[in-house]
Amino acid sequence: MMMMMMKDRSLLAVCVALVAALGGSLSVPPHEKVARMARFVVNKCDWASMATISTHDPVRGQPFSNAFSISDGPAGNGTGTPYLYITHLEISVQDLQVNPQSSLSVSLAQTSYCKNHGFDPQSPLCAHIILSGSVVEVNGSEASVAKAALFSRHPEMIDWPADHNWFFAKMNITQVWVLDYFGGVKTITPEEYYRATPYQKHNGSDTL
Ligand SMILES: *[C@@H]1O[C@H](CO)[C@@H](O)[C@H](O)[C@H]1NC(C)=O
Ligand SMILES: *[C@@H]1O[C@H](CO)[C@@H](O)[C@H](O)[C@H]1NC(C)=O
Ligand SMILES: *[C@@H]1O[C@H](CO)[C@@H](O)[C@H](O)[C@H]1NC(C)=O
Ligand SMILES: *[C@@H]1O[C@H](CO)[C@@H](O)[C@H](O)[C@H]1NC(C)=O
Repeated sequence: MMMMMMKDRSLLAVCVALVAALGGSLSVPPHEKVARMARFVVNKCDWASMATISTHDPVRGQPFSNAFSISDGPAGNGTGTPYLYITHLEISVQDLQVNPQSSLSVSLAQTSYCKNHGFDPQSPLCAHIILSGSVVEVNGSEASVAKAALFSRHPEMIDWPADHNWFFAKMNITQVWVLDYFGGVKTITPEEYYRATPYQKHNGSDTL
């Protein structure tokens, strides 16, 4: 019995290692490929810190940052557009109703990459991306795309209480800010961002 459990466990360990190896076969893009890096980090991250302009006392008119689950599609095949599943009952979403402008920040600090390399979250080597734009509701076929993207990566969402009137939204990106190396922030346009192919294979295998 004990032997059996050990065997099962070692089999499980092999499976876990295999899955990790396969999942890790996507390499971090070279830092000079700024748009690819931005797409890569957005797809790797499961959540973002979203800043809005607060409508709530005593910080009315001040920046207000809050954590949100995001998804731009399956791991390894994202579209670049971060989708959100939100409700008007939520404090930041109430801000968005007054002013949809927001800033989403994502970081490889969410993954094991920065810790494994000894990169502090504030180090530019621990790539982090800031998306500027506005959050807009999506309907129709795009809502189906958003639902598939979000529910596959956040399965718990399926059971979120229906009476909260959840809806799908996306970040309408107007500017992308990339901190992925020394020398200061780099900016890319939404066009450059969407043109990038984050998953092409390259040498210098710095895998996650
Ligand atoms: C990636 O997603 C696109 C749709 O965005 C789909 O057409 C394509 O088949 C997907 N590729 C893989 C490998 O899943
Ligand atoms: C989506 O539908 C809602 C409710 O019907 C509506 O208020 C909103 O304006 C629509 N949004 C878009 C982008 O069409
Ligand atoms: C996205 O933002 C741009 C620039 O502000 C604006 O022109 C466009 O209408 C917005 N798109 C949506 C769907 O809100
Ligand atoms: C990758 O590295 C190998 C061996 O170092 C080299 O032969 C090959 O040309 C490189 N490929 C690219 C696309 O740089």
